[in-house]
Amino acid sequence: MSSSTAIANANKSGAPTRIGLIGCGFYAQNHLNAWDDLKHEGGVLVAVCDSDQGRAQAAGDARGVPWFSDAEKMLSALQPDLVDIVTQMNAHRSLVELVARHGIGLIVQKPLAPNWEDCLAMAAATARAKVFAAVHENFRYQPQMTRMKELIDTNTIGKATFARISFRIGFDVYASQPYLLTEPRGAILDVGIHLLDLARFFCGEVVHVLAETQRRNPRVAAEDTATILLRHESTAVTVVECTYESRRLPDTFPETLIEIEGDEGAIHLHAGNRLVITSRGAMTEETVELPSLDWADPRWRASQVAVLETNRHLLRSFRTSRPADTSIADNLNTYALVDASYLAAERGVAVVPKRWVEG
Ligand SMILES: NC(=O)c1ccc[n+]([C@@H]2O[C@H](COP(=O)([O-])OP(=O)(O)OC[C@H]3O[C@@H](n4cnc5c(N)ncnc54)[C@H](O)[C@@H]3O)[C@@H](O)[C@H]2O)c1
Repeated sequence: MSSSTAIANANKSGAPTRIGLIGCGFYAQNHLNAWDDLKHEGGVLVAVCDSDQGRAQAAGDARGVPWFSDAEKMLSALQPDLVDIVTQMNAHRSLVELVARHGIGLIVQKPLAPNWEDCLAMAAATARAKVFAAVHENFRYQPQMTRMKELIDTNTIGKATFARISFRIGFDVYASQPYLLTEPRGAILDVGIHLLDLARFFCGEVVHVLAETQRRNPRVAAEDTATILLRHESTAVTVVECTYESRRLPDTFPETLIEIEGDEGAIHLHAGNRLVITSRGAMTEETVELPSLDWADPRWRASQVAVLETNRHLLRSFRTSRPADTSIADNLNTYALVDASYLAAERGVAVVPKRWVEG
C-alpha cells in the first residue's frame, strides 16, 4: 500500500460522486446533513441503508432517496461511487470488506474496529481492491485545529516541544450513545482516539506511551477517564487527557482545549475557540469563527462542523484521486496509540506503539 498507489475507483470525468450511506442512527444524522450541504461540491446522496428498516425508511424518505435494509442489495442495485459507513465499530469490518469486494471507495467512522486484527484486515481488503479508504477521524478538521496546525507549520512557535490536549466534560454522552456504558474499552477508544490523532497531527509520530485510567462512574463498564503521556520522535512530550466525569462549570463539551509550547512561542486554545498566540515575545489573540449550520444542535455544533469539514476533505480527496489525510493506513498509527495506551495502563509501564509503514 502506498500513497502513490492509483485509486481504482476515484471519480470519473467530473461527474457528481454518487454516495450511499450505511447506518442511519444517531451520529449518521450529521453525515446526512453534511452531504446535503456538499451537494453543490459534487457529492450526491443516492441511497441509504440500515438493518433497522424503520431507520432506513425514515432517512430515505426524508431525503427522497431509495432506502435498503441490506447493504449488499444497495450496492448491487445502485453501485454508488463512494460508501459512507456510519455504524458502530462491530459492524465495520464486514461492511468494509463487502464494499471493497464491490470495488467501491469507502469512508468508515471511528473507531475503525474493536481490535487491531480487524483494523489490519480492513487495511488489507481495501489495499487489495485498490479502493479509496478513509477513516472519518474528524477532530483534526475542526477549524480551530486546522488554524493551529497552520500556525505550527508556518513556524509561529518554532519547534513544538510540549502539548496538552484536554477533553474534560460532564455532558451525558450516554444519553445518545447508551452502548458506551457497556463497551469493554471506554473513553480512550471512544474519544481518546481523537485526541491521540491530534497529538500525531500536531507533534508527529510517537516513540512510547505511558497511561493511567480511572473508572469514576460505577454505571460504566470500562474506563471513563484517562491520562496519557506521549514521547514523540521529535522529542516533544504530549499529555492527552479525557474524562466524561468532570464536574467543572461551564461544561466545555464538545470542545477540546489545547496548549502547545514551542521553543519560540506558544499557542493556547481556550473555550469558545479563542486562540492566544505567543510568537517570539509578542502576544496576539483571535477567535476562530465556526460556519453557521442551519441543522446544528447548539450542544453539538463543534462536532457537526467537524463532520462537514471532514466530509468536504474526504469528498475532495476522492474526486481528485488522492488518498485522504486520514486514510485507513494513516489511521492505523492512531489506533496503535490506543492499543499502546491500554497496555501501558494495564501493565504500568512505557509501551512502544506498533507502527504501520506504507509501502
Ligand atoms: N465525534 C465523532 O466522531 C462521533 C460521535 C458519535 C459517534 N461516532 C461514531 O459513529 C458511529 C455510529 O455511532 P452511533 O452512535 O450513530 O450508533 P447508532 O447505534 O445510533 O447507529 C448505528 C446504526 O447502524 C445500523 N447498523 C448496524 N449494523 C448494520 C449493518 N450491517 N447494515 C446496515 N445498518 C447497520 C444500526 O441499526 C444503527 O441504526 C460509531 O462508530 C461511533 O463511534 C463518532
